[in-house]
Amino acid sequence: MAAPQTPTSLAATYRMLDGRDIPAFGLGVWAMSDKQTRAAVTWALEAGYRHIDTAEWYENEGAVGDGLRAFLSSPAGAGMTRDDIFITSKLMHNRSYDDTLADLRASLARAGLDYFDMYLLHAPTGGSMMQAKRDGLARSIGVSNFSPKHLQEIVARGDEMPAVNQIDLHPFMRHQEYVASCREHGILLEAWAPLARGLRFEHPVIETVAEKYGKTPAQVHLRWGLQHGYIVIPKSASRNRIIENADVFDFALSAADMEQLDALDEGLTTDWDITKLD
Ligand SMILES: NC(=O)c1ccc[n+]([C@@H]2O[C@H](COP(=O)([O-])OP(=O)(O)OC[C@H]3O[C@@H](n4cnc5c(N)ncnc54)[C@H](OP(=O)(O)O)[C@@H]3O)[C@@H](O)[C@H]2O)c1
Repeated sequence: MAAPQTPTSLAATYRMLDGRDIPAFGLGVWAMSDKQTRAAVTWALEAGYRHIDTAEWYENEGAVGDGLRAFLSSPAGAGMTRDDIFITSKLMHNRSYDDTLADLRASLARAGLDYFDMYLLHAPTGGSMMQAKRDGLARSIGVSNFSPKHLQEIVARGDEMPAVNQIDLHPFMRHQEYVASCREHGILLEAWAPLARGLRFEHPVIETVAEKYGKTPAQVHLRWGLQHGYIVIPKSASRNRIIENADVFDFALSAADMEQLDALDEGLTTDWDITKLD
């Protein structure tokens, strides 16, 4: 599979291998309190985001549901329904199928939702969740932090392939073998920490490129991800930064600048080192 076409608007989607579409741009809500999450989700949806990324681990699924409902019942959400917004959550501990189903139902109950658009296995700890999809509780199933070896194990089991693999991807951490393996299997890449958590905003190359296009370092990071065909889910609890991060559809990084940014890869780990997950 080649990299998907670069999305042209905040509403743009990529087609997944299960035939469904996923918005290429979303809001991540890791490390946000309930109050921050409710506000950020509402602000993001008002700004045109159509995709929210939460997890059982983040302990804010309820606030995501609250923010979604607040938006849908506000003037900004007029004419829209739950089906217009793509909500992802993630399973924390993958044990038996029954335990997985119980956790998924608990996550849905906390969020006050009937289904998630995407349910991810947060880390490669074995097992399959495809029954949850057949039961209609999750419309697509994906994985997170899966290595090429983990994907090969799915192939060996003869299981359905996940629609996405969410891994850390930004100019300073390119995980090229992971990307190649996902592409080989037709799996979309979803970039967590697409801003590298702001750790390299002052890098001279980032600053120079940002200045050249009249954009911010955060926007350069996100545009780099989109031009590689990744789904990007930047986290921000600030209304201004939520709006700023989405303003990345009016410029294109040149091939030479993409190469320059690609060359920044230093294997920068911003959270867990996914190459150590077995
Ligand atoms: N699957 C996994 O294992 C995994 C792991 C980590 C993260 N994730 C997901 O990926 C999402 C994003 O990753 P992340 O939260 O780790 O990191 P990130 O999105 O790369 O960076 C977030 C940080 O950047 C700041 N920020 C956001 N926009 C900014 C801007 N325009 N200018 C300056 N600073 C800005 C945020 O602060 P403010 O909030 O103050 O703006 C926050 O400190 C998470 O929220 C989560 O949904 C998944």
